[in-house]
Amino acid sequence: MCGIVGYVGPRQASDVLLGGLARLEYRGYDSAGVAIIADEDLSVVRRVGKLANLKDAIAESPVSGSVGVGHTRWATHGRPTEDNAHPHVDCTGKIAVVHNGIIENYAELREELARTGHILRSETDTETIAHLVEGYFDGDLADAVSHAVKRLEGSYAIGVVHLDNPDTIIAARKDSPLIIGVGRGENVVASDIPAVLEYTREVVVLHDGDVAVVTADGVVVRDELGAVVEPEMMHVEWDLEAAEKGGYEDFMLKEIFEQPTAIRETLRGRMGQDGQLQLSELDMTAEEISAIDRVFIVACGTSYHAGVVAKALIEGWARIPVEVEVSSEFRYADPIVDDETLVVAITQSGETADTLAGVREARERGAKVMAITNVVGSRVTRESDGVVYTHAGPEIGVAATKTFTAQMAALYVLALKLTQVKGMLPQERIEAIWEELVRIPDIVEAVLEDLEPIEHCAQTYKDVCSSLFLGRGIGVPVAMEGALKLKEISYIHAEAYAAGEMKHGPIALITEDVPVVVVATQGHTYEKVVSNIQEVRARGAQVIAVATHGDDDIRRHAEHVLHVPATAEMLTAIPATVPLQLLAYYIAKLRGCNVDQPRNLAKSVTVE
Ligand code: AGP
Repeated sequence: MCGIVGYVGPRQASDVLLGGLARLEYRGYDSAGVAIIADEDLSVVRRVGKLANLKDAIAESPVSGSVGVGHTRWATHGRPTEDNAHPHVDCTGKIAVVHNGIIENYAELREELARTGHILRSETDTETIAHLVEGYFDGDLADAVSHAVKRLEGSYAIGVVHLDNPDTIIAARKDSPLIIGVGRGENVVASDIPAVLEYTREVVVLHDGDVAVVTADGVVVRDELGAVVEPEMMHVEWDLEAAEKGGYEDFMLKEIFEQPTAIRETLRGRMGQDGQLQLSELDMTAEEISAIDRVFIVACGTSYHAGVVAKALIEGWARIPVEVEVSSEFRYADPIVDDETLVVAITQSGETADTLAGVREARERGAKVMAITNVVGSRVTRESDGVVYTHAGPEIGVAATKTFTAQMAALYVLALKLTQVKGMLPQERIEAIWEELVRIPDIVEAVLEDLEPIEHCAQTYKDVCSSLFLGRGIGVPVAMEGALKLKEISYIHAEAYAAGEMKHGPIALITEDVPVVVVATQGHTYEKVVSNIQEVRARGAQVIAVATHGDDDIRRHAEHVLHVPATAEMLTAIPATVPLQLLAYYIAKLRGCNVDQPRNLAKSVTVE
C-alpha cells in the first residue's frame, strides 16, 4: 500500500515529508517523491528505489517551502519508474496529486482526458486525477477536487496541492485510509498514524466521501454532499511501533485482519457491466483460451496450496485438466507442457527461485505463462507472458496470510474466466457464483469477529508435539495451509491429509495427545468427513472442527467447533482458512514464538 504525507505549517515541508515517509517505509514501496510549493514554483522531485535516493536528491538540490505532499509508491498500475512515481502533475504543472488506491475506470478517463487535449506522461491511474482536477479548477481547489473524485470508480486516498492555493492541501478518501494529524499551527495529512506521531496525537479520521481543506490554521471537512461536518477526532495512545502495526501486536495479526480489504481490492473491477469477467492481463484471445487443453500450476509453500484450490475450481467449473506441482519438482521433472498448456505461476513475492526456474522451463517448452503475484515489477512479472496482481498490499509477516487469500480470490476470477470463455457454465450460474464471491470479504469479517473459540483452542493445544489436519475436496488445501501455518510459526509438527487417506497409514499416529483439526464445512462429502472424525475419535483423538454456521450436529463429534458463515462449497476455501491462520497465530504467541520472523524462514526464498 502506498504511503501519503502532506504538510502545511511553519516548518520546512521537505523535512516533515521525508520524515513522515520514512515512518511509512514499513508499508513497502518501490519509488518515492515530493511536491513542495516553494515561493512562485511547485517543485516536484521523484526517485525510484529507496527513500534514501529521494533524500539524496533533495540534499543536493534543497527545496524550500512549507506546504507540500509526499508519497511512497507500492506499484499497482505501471512499473516502478520515475515517470510512474508520485506526485503526478497536470498539464500546467501547478497541480500535484499523491494517491493510494486503485482507480478502476482509469483507462476510460485517460482516453477522455487525451481526447480533450491533456498530455498524460505516465502509465498510472493516479495521473488522471491531476488532470481531472485541472479541468474542474476555477479557483476553488476543494470544489475542483470534489468534482474530480466524483468521476472516480474504485478506491482512493489523495492529497492535492495547487500553486495558486499555496497555503492549502486538499485531502479526500474512499476505501483507502487517510488521516489528518492536527497540530498547533500546523497539520499533517497521512495514510497512517506513524507519520504524524512526531507532531501530534490528535487525529482527524476521514470517512469515505469526505473532502478536507487543510491549512496551517485548521481543517474543514465536507461530506460527500458538500456539507461542512464536524470532524471525527481521535486521540492516539500508541507508540510508534504499535502504530506501524496499526495497534495490532504483530504484523501477522494485522495482515490477517487486512484480509477482507485484500480480497475486496483483488476482486475490484473484475466483473464488467456486461457480465464478462475482466482478465485482460491473460492477454489471450477467446480462441486461444478455448484451445487450452491443460493447465499446469507451479508454486511453493502457501502459494502451492492456492494452486491446489485452483485445481478444484478450474476442473470443477471449466472442466480443464489441471496439474499442480511444487516448483522445485516441476523444474527438474521434464514436464509435459506445450503451446496448448497454460502454466500458472503463483508467487506472492515474485522472486522465488524455484518458481522462476519453473517459469523459464515452461516457456522454453512453448507454454503460455501467467503469473499471479503481489509485487509489481517483481522478477516473475518480467519473465511471464501475463500477470494478474493480487492487491493485498505489502505483507511484512514472513508467514503468508492475506497474500494467500488474495491469491485465491485472483484464482476464482481466473477459473470463472476460463469457464465463461469455454462456455462451460450458463451465464446466470457464473453471475450467481460472482455474487457469492464478492460476499466473501464480509464473511471473513464475520469470522474475525468470533475469536474466543479459536483462542480457547490455542490455550488447550499449545503444548502438543504433533497434530493432524484433515479435509476433503476443497478442504484438503485448506488443511494443508493450516498445517503449514502451525508448523512454520509455532514449530509444532503438523501433517495434512485427505481425510479419506487417513486409514491408509496416518491413523497410526492418532492418540489422545495428537489433536486432529478437520475442515468439516458443508459440502457433498460432509457425511464422509463426519465418518472420518468418528474414526479418529474412536482412537482417542480430540477434534477441532471448522464447520458451517448452523451446523450444531457437529458438536456431537468434536471437542471444539470453529464456525464460519455459510457459502457455496467451492467458495469455502477462503473463510475456512482464517480460523486456522488464527489458531496457528494464537498457539505460537502462547509458546513465545516470534510470529513475524519465525526461525529459519525467509519472506522470499530467492535461492534453490
Ligand atoms: C508461507 O507462509 C511461507 N512463508 C512459504 O511457504 C511461502 O509461501 C513460499 O516460500 C512461497 O513464496 P512465494 O509465494 O513468494 O513464491
